[in-house]
Amino acid sequence: MTEKKKFLVTGGAGFIGGNFVGKLLGEESGQVLVLDKLTYAGHLITLERWAENPDYQFVEGDIADSELVGRLLKEFKPDYLVNFAAESHVDRSIDSAADFVQTNIVGTHVLLEKSLEYWRSLGDSKGNFQFQHVSTDEVYGSLGATGYFQESTRYSPNSPYAASKAASDHLVMAYYRTYGLPATITNCSNNYGPYQFPEKLIPLALANALNGKPIPIYGDGQNIRDWIYVEDHCEAIMSVLAHGHGGETYNIGGNCERTNIELVGQIITVLQEFEQLPTDRPFEHFIEFVTDRPGHDQRYAIDASKIGRELGWQPRFTFQEAIRKTVRWYLDNQEWCTAVLNENYDGSRLGRAKND
Ligand code: NAD
Ligand code: TYD
Repeated sequence: MTEKKKFLVTGGAGFIGGNFVGKLLGEESGQVLVLDKLTYAGHLITLERWAENPDYQFVEGDIADSELVGRLLKEFKPDYLVNFAAESHVDRSIDSAADFVQTNIVGTHVLLEKSLEYWRSLGDSKGNFQFQHVSTDEVYGSLGATGYFQESTRYSPNSPYAASKAASDHLVMAYYRTYGLPATITNCSNNYGPYQFPEKLIPLALANALNGKPIPIYGDGQNIRDWIYVEDHCEAIMSVLAHGHGGETYNIGGNCERTNIELVGQIITVLQEFEQLPTDRPFEHFIEFVTDRPGHDQRYAIDASKIGRELGWQPRFTFQEAIRKTVRWYLDNQEWCTAVLNENYDGSRLGRAKND
């Protein structure tokens, strides 16, 4: 029997990381060590179904803690380090960028330094380690009405969040080019699905609609995002771990562009189909136009042909199917929503643009 692969997953108590850990323990039979600081966005309840699984361990800690990261690498001896840990909400980065610089840039640098040390110590087994950095399409800036982000698109981040992720991507690539650290980067579009903290658009829209509150729409609602179901993103990362090449970047997207207003309209329609909202009210009843986000990127759209061509990955879920699964999950998991909002959340960002 071949030995189980070992994955050190940072940020595994967050939205995408939590889904990825589920995939590793549920389908892929990996051994998983999660390192997570449990910020307002990270919650053990997301991982509680694995608590008794012998292949799962959790350590509460900061990716910027060099001593801790070094020790975990040395003791756990992972085959892969998959870095999901980040401050991830654009609106928060507009309020204050300090945590974004600290975690996304300084934290990633610590992971790289300690991974380099660990990788060098592997001797003949050096070929068995891969550093996979999970990043965003927001590093490319904003598109006009046409065109797509490709791996060759020049970085042009606008928000402090996007700038901090861009910096981290540059550091990762620098460690590959300078020291040969086997590192890959994935730049993905907007995710949706279970366990997303209810301050991002889709879970916030669901929470507000179910609680009889209007859904805040920034500006005119015509901004476009390219939505991908989180499970498709996790599968894309698995294919990069299995077949990706060091020093390469892979764009991941759902080929699913929607204006924010269209997206919210579809969520309301699904809630009406599930008999959670009355059908005799006009759409305008459920929404409220609010002050726009400063520097709001107009359009994101990913060209994911490279990962399709080279690694054979394609998204499996249609939007129609996955948005229904997502709405169903939130309806069935209201306890999770209540728990994560109660724990240590101050509510200050919930559904507000900066100048509201
Ligand atoms: P999230 O905010 O839901 O989760 C982030 C996790 O990182 C949380 O569990 C948090 O506790 C943890 N964390 C934060 N700072 C930490 C630190 N210093 N040390 C250890 N852990 C820390 O984010 P997400 O939406 O799951 O995003 C995960 C990654 O994917 C991020 O790097 C993000 O930039 C990227 N990404 C997200 C999207 C999206 O649509 N959500 C799209 C593309 C890329
Ligand atoms: P968000 O989920 O914050 O993701 P990102 O900013 O990383 O793309 O926002 C998605 C889109 O929805 C973005 O164009 C901003 C908009 N938005 C609203 O209109 N209202 C809201 O309450 C939120 C949180 C976002």
